[in-house]
Amino acid sequence: AVGGIALSAQAASGTSDESASSPSGSLVFDKDAYTELTTTVTDTAGTEHAVTYHFWKAVTYCAEPVDETYQSLNVSVPVKIDGKAVDATGAPILLANSIGGYMPSSVANATGIGAGGMGGGTGGGAPGGAPSASASASPSAPGANDNTNATGGALASNQLLALAAGYVVVEPGARGRTLKSSGGEYYGTAPAAIVDLKAAVRYIRFNKGRIPGNVERIVSAGTSAGGALSALLGASGDSRLYDKLLQEIGAADASDAIFATGAWCPITDLEHADGAYEWNWGTNALSTGKQVDQTVSKALQGQFAEYQAQLRLRGLNGFGALTARTYDEYLVEQYLQPSATRYLAALSAAARETYLAKNTFITWSGGRATFTWADFLTHVGARKKTTPAFDAFDLSAGENNLFGAGTTESRHFTAYGARNDTTGLSSKRVASDIPEKLNLMNPMYHLQRKNPGRSQHWWIRLGTNDTDTSHVVSANLAAAANGLGDDVNHLYYWDQGHGANTDPGDFITWIAKVTG
Ligand code: DHB
Repeated sequence: AVGGIALSAQAASGTSDESASSPSGSLVFDKDAYTELTTTVTDTAGTEHAVTYHFWKAVTYCAEPVDETYQSLNVSVPVKIDGKAVDATGAPILLANSIGGYMPSSVANATGIGAGGMGGGTGGGAPGGAPSASASASPSAPGANDNTNATGGALASNQLLALAAGYVVVEPGARGRTLKSSGGEYYGTAPAAIVDLKAAVRYIRFNKGRIPGNVERIVSAGTSAGGALSALLGASGDSRLYDKLLQEIGAADASDAIFATGAWCPITDLEHADGAYEWNWGTNALSTGKQVDQTVSKALQGQFAEYQAQLRLRGLNGFGALTARTYDEYLVEQYLQPSATRYLAALSAAARETYLAKNTFITWSGGRATFTWADFLTHVGARKKTTPAFDAFDLSAGENNLFGAGTTESRHFTAYGARNDTTGLSSKRVASDIPEKLNLMNPMYHLQRKNPGRSQHWWIRLGTNDTDTSHVVSANLAAAANGLGDDVNHLYYWDQGHGANTDPGDFITWIAKVTG
């Protein structure tokens, strides 16, 4: 039943014998089942490109789907660009998810590549309203950045630019936290989405030679929750921890390792994010002007200091130990000042003067911007979230729902959150299945264990005004990968908020470079 939400997770797990015997018959990609479409892609220089492409729609990527509406993918393969025939047989494959808010994400109703744009999926009837993770729709000041679309309009999505560059684009859907069966069971909570993305990768690899493109050059991309899952997909490649879950949905018998990872504002390391958030934004008021509970904030900051010390990370470019004491200096020097410098250098002299007159906390000298951490925090202003930001005492955060299970919609996933529960729970501890689920959801877990199957190329981006999580989260991800010798390209976008992607053209160029 296409589009049906009929099976429970239990029904799927009860068929593991069948799926082990041969799920693959139904997992053969039908080369001929495409429609030919055309689109116009405006590149980052403002030039239009006519692209003809083959489009495969709503292809179920596992043999025992729990819900095909979400467990399916779309494939777009360019065949003609600006009138010239192209052969994408050996091209990199961009695996671009549109997951936002850890909500369900469906591509089943898309009418072409990138339909519905980034963020929150392309419909699928997800209740509850996903937080917007709109990357392509994010307004960027014309001329504010040398990568800004010359027309001053919204930048093209990663997907469209990749297609116009001759790459194969695969857009996977995935289950999300709000999905509930008719029996009241939550079947899209953690770790469903990562299991689904892995199944999508396995499907692509299983269909080597049938799906156009180089299956050894899969590059994942996603924003926010989708960025977190992209990073997790990269970090956890071929981890055996997911085998049983993959088997339950009848995933293809193939590697789920990817070659490179793109992650924009990843909302990840969730069990440590409350502390990291307070370390970063603890003294910033909410948009109402109210301070958060400073006792809670301080307690969480203490937890962050402990965690950060235990990570034993070193900064990029020779910066020493990353600790709660050194991290402000690190962020300012490694990311924030260079970000402001790039922004200001790209402005006309007059526009730069105007900006600097409005932002006197910045010293502009010798073509470089400098400022203090405290002034930067003031510049960002209101924090988006109360405290704790992720494991809310009243279970009201989306992440509480992410760690729901069975018929329980929302649960605590940190000891501190559970201990301070205000919903009247009898137990003040996290449930016994939570620690394993946290590992399955955390790229840091896999990087700390030096997972040999991980992606070894990392493109990480974050807006400096983004207070959806701590600035430390993506910097830690970058430092962990860098510490393993991986190739890391991590920049912060000056004055940009949540979901920004102001240099998509550079990402496309980077893909060519690392996969070439
Ligand atoms: C997203 C945003 C959040 O603030 C969050 O906690 C989780 C996900 C998102 O935009 O995907």
